[in-house]
Amino acid sequence: MNLIAPSLLAADFAHLDREMEWFNRSEADWLHLDVMDGVFVPNISFGFPVLEHVARLTEKPLDVHLMIVQPEKFITQVRDLGAAIMNVHQEACVHLHRTIQQIHEAGMKAAVTLNPATPVSTLEDIICDVDVVMLMTVNPGFGAQKFIEHSLNKVRRLRQLITQSGSAALIEVDGGVNRTTAPRLAEAGVDVYVTGSAVFGKPDPIAEVKELKLLTS
Ligand code: DX5
Ligand code: ZN
Repeated sequence: MNLIAPSLLAADFAHLDREMEWFNRSEADWLHLDVMDGVFVPNISFGFPVLEHVARLTEKPLDVHLMIVQPEKFITQVRDLGAAIMNVHQEACVHLHRTIQQIHEAGMKAAVTLNPATPVSTLEDIICDVDVVMLMTVNPGFGAQKFIEHSLNKVRRLRQLITQSGSAALIEVDGGVNRTTAPRLAEAGVDVYVTGSAVFGKPDPIAEVKELKLLTS
């Protein structure tokens, strides 16, 4: 599978309506939304008032990536946005199994994200309960960072774990995804490609999405 999920973090926030207009006309599959709290990551992005505005501007599935401590406190608010996927960090959830259950009870798909230093093996006991595993391919908190090469091995190990366990989880990657890294990630077994600076701000973002789609097919 090759789904493209543009990350709004790289958008022009003064013109969100315009950004969403090209996004809706593009071949993009999901909209990736990065929420930061200045505690879990050393940056603050946007919160629910902005998300509510954006959610009204698209019919495409929303992938809400919570880079915050105690994300379980916000399950209802994320559900009320109409989000399709609620994405929490393994490192931020003390009771990850319970949080996944609660996300499912709220009617959303559950995605679990790993920071670059967190091993794939930490998911062995819940791999059959999650819908998506997202690997951070940069350290979370900022857009336009350099892709961490070691991530390719990690994707291969995650693909092995998913195959061996019979899990149906999709593999998503976030950070430094562009025309160069995307085909290499595809070969390693990725399903969903988050991409910020490689599409937003480009002269023809629709063409960039199309190109990434082709390069990963
Ligand atoms: C980083 C965010 C990413 C970011 C990716 O913490 O989670 O989604 O927007 O940006 P690029 O694609 O520019 O690396
Ligand atoms: Zn993200």
